[in-house]
Amino acid sequence: MSTYDFEKELERRGTACVKHDLLEPNFGASDLLPMWVADMDIASPDFVLDDLRKRLEHPVLGYTFGSASYYDAILQWLEKHYAIRTQRETLHFIPGIVAGIAFCLQSFTREGDAVTVMTPVYPPFLSLPKHGHRELRHSKLYIENGRFHIDFADLDRQLQGSKLLILSNPHNPGGTVWTREELQQIAALCAKHKVTVISDEIHADLTLPGYRHTSYATVSDEAAAHSVTFMAPSKTFNIAGLASSVAYVPNASLRQTLYDYIDGYELANGNVFAYVGAESAFRKGEEWLKQLLAFLQRNIDYATERLHKELPEVRVIKPEASFLLWMDFSAMGIPHEELKERFIHKAHIALNDGTTFGGSDYEGCFRMNVGCPRRTLDDGLERIFSVLR
Ligand SMILES: Cc1ncc(COP(=O)(O)O)c(C=O)c1O
Repeated sequence: MSTYDFEKELERRGTACVKHDLLEPNFGASDLLPMWVADMDIASPDFVLDDLRKRLEHPVLGYTFGSASYYDAILQWLEKHYAIRTQRETLHFIPGIVAGIAFCLQSFTREGDAVTVMTPVYPPFLSLPKHGHRELRHSKLYIENGRFHIDFADLDRQLQGSKLLILSNPHNPGGTVWTREELQQIAALCAKHKVTVISDEIHADLTLPGYRHTSYATVSDEAAAHSVTFMAPSKTFNIAGLASSVAYVPNASLRQTLYDYIDGYELANGNVFAYVGAESAFRKGEEWLKQLLAFLQRNIDYATERLHKELPEVRVIKPEASFLLWMDFSAMGIPHEELKERFIHKAHIALNDGTTFGGSDYEGCFRMNVGCPRRTLDDGLERIFSVLR
């Protein structure tokens, strides 16, 4: 059995890497420690890289498709990890989940239709509906006992007349693993208001020890009937650049609408590496993932403990899944713009600005990516402490 080394520091600059090479256009400075974009500063698994290299031994990179073997690897993963027993036709390759959300917006809604999201949330959940001139409705999450919770009375109001709910399951930011009961309540409300649900489960595989991911479509028959679920190996195995994900649509009528759009416009034909990389990850990734989760848990414990000790006023949401820490500095009384200025120009660190997750309600909040070697994490924490102590 291999022991994987997640502590190796890698030079990613110069690889057309969004996180390291696009600092200047996003932050106005390039000399920053990048702890923003949600990929990890660790190597993608050796078995995935080997299988990609092996494919390159064949000299033709012609048109390709998702083979029976590719779909079979996904079917096995879904059954083993999420108790989803399904058939090939309920799955459709998607070239990235953000693209998948756009396909759903186009398939299931029209201009002016209302789309509900639960804020704070991954920024494309906000920007895509806005771009498509949909009416965006926010249901604000609240924090209790260091965890995000859903205000179901408010969600009920927002869903009335909505066409679509875009759900992050688990939630980004904060890494909240929604429980079966919470998902059942969402499903009951969506059934009541005839809302279609997009359950974005990109972070599901990264559910940390002690928590259990529940796939939305498994919570009730009505949830299965009104949802599209997106899964991907991209966060799990640090292969986001392959743009390889999959939609699971158990309901035949939703499937027909979505597939008609995607296939009619030929939007999801996929590329050689997307299929090979995903299959390799799902077939060979169990042990790697187990070790990764232990590594992430250590980083999360370490970062949250240090933040708590050094900056007790800062409210940190400890993730139940994934590697993204949500930090609320507002109790320190420093204006948001001043915090940003200090982080970028004094600490030289790139964090995600909380207001991009839902507007001015999240002033004072920032998101930090702890999917990196401990030395990088230490460096990042020290930079934050140095401008706030
Ligand atoms: C909730 C969520 N959905 C989707 C994505 C991106 O998905 P993709 O790269 O497949 O478009 C991210 C990346 O951070 C995410 O956090």
